[in-house]
Amino acid sequence: MKGFVDKGICIGCSVCTSICPEAFEMDDDGLARANDIELIAGLEDMAEEAEASCPVNAISLK
Ligand code: F3S
Repeated sequence: MKGFVDKGICIGCSVCTSICPEAFEMDDDGLARANDIELIAGLEDMAEEAEASCPVNAISLK
């Protein structure tokens, strides 16, 4: 499973990077981007929490 951020939707609130910094980072443009890493068991749980916590639903996990 990998994380994805739709930058057209992200408002840069940085909740995702607080919850799961391994999977999400703030980019120079002030919006989040997903790191290109395979999410293993423990990280999957945090990434799912980040997905659920994004106020604008910009995160998807595939
Ligand atoms: Fe953006 Fe949502 Fe993260 S608004 S900064 S993708 S929590």
